[in-house]
Amino acid sequence: MAKLLHVNSSPRGESSKSLAIAHTFLDTYQMRHPELKVDTWDLFQEPLPNYATDAAAAKMAAFARQKLSPEQEMEWARCKIVYDRFVEADEYLFNVPMWNHGVPYPLKQWIDIITQPGWVFDFHPEHGYQGLVKRKRAFVIYTSGVYQTGGRPGFGADFHAKFFNDWLRFIGITEVTDLYYSGYDLLSPEQAAVAYKATQTRAQELASVW
Ligand SMILES: Cc1cc2nc3c(=O)[nH]c(=O)nc-3n(C[C@H](O)[C@H](O)[C@H](O)COP(=O)(O)O)c2cc1C
Repeated sequence: MAKLLHVNSSPRGESSKSLAIAHTFLDTYQMRHPELKVDTWDLFQEPLPNYATDAAAAKMAAFARQKLSPEQEMEWARCKIVYDRFVEADEYLFNVPMWNHGVPYPLKQWIDIITQPGWVFDFHPEHGYQGLVKRKRAFVIYTSGVYQTGGRPGFGADFHAKFFNDWLRFIGITEVTDLYYSGYDLLSPEQAAVAYKATQTRAQELASVW
């Protein structure tokens, strides 16, 4: 049975636009795949392990193929639990609001935990990085309140979709479909409402062909 992991990185619950669009996508997708198993990971509700001194040292030791200290082994094992839950899915749905031109901090923490050598990537001194997460695909919903793709300077920059799409590619997930809602939420509620409706319709359309 195929398994989809939905990672929600907005804490705004019923007010969240990205989560509502993700639900619209999922409702349509599940109608086509009633047997689909869905794991929902709410990054603001489920605490992640702290990623600090011993975890960073464990990463550096693993990268250099050195033996890990007992403290590092412990941190590595805690990270592995997070990675195992991630990697057991066949496909992924992410909703990612823009926060200060980047991604919300628990999503970055989650990325730092699972992005380990030998798990999601390998490194070759001559050829560089190689992604290890193969034969998986992702659907990503990005939202922002001011920033618009191709928008005027002074309205922000994209270290959000560019960063996250790049991370997916980096770990080996090359089949990525993304959907943007950048509805001037904070500037023009009328314009935002029109854009939001169009994005919800687009989410349904994409779910019926994904
Ligand atoms: C902490 C925080 C930081 C934000 N930073 C930006 C930003 O840098 N650029 C932008 O366009 N919108 C920014 N926004 C607005 C959100 O991206 C926008 O409202 C988005 O729709 C939120 O997604 P959500 O409704 O799923 O939570 C920010 C919102 C919050 C709460």
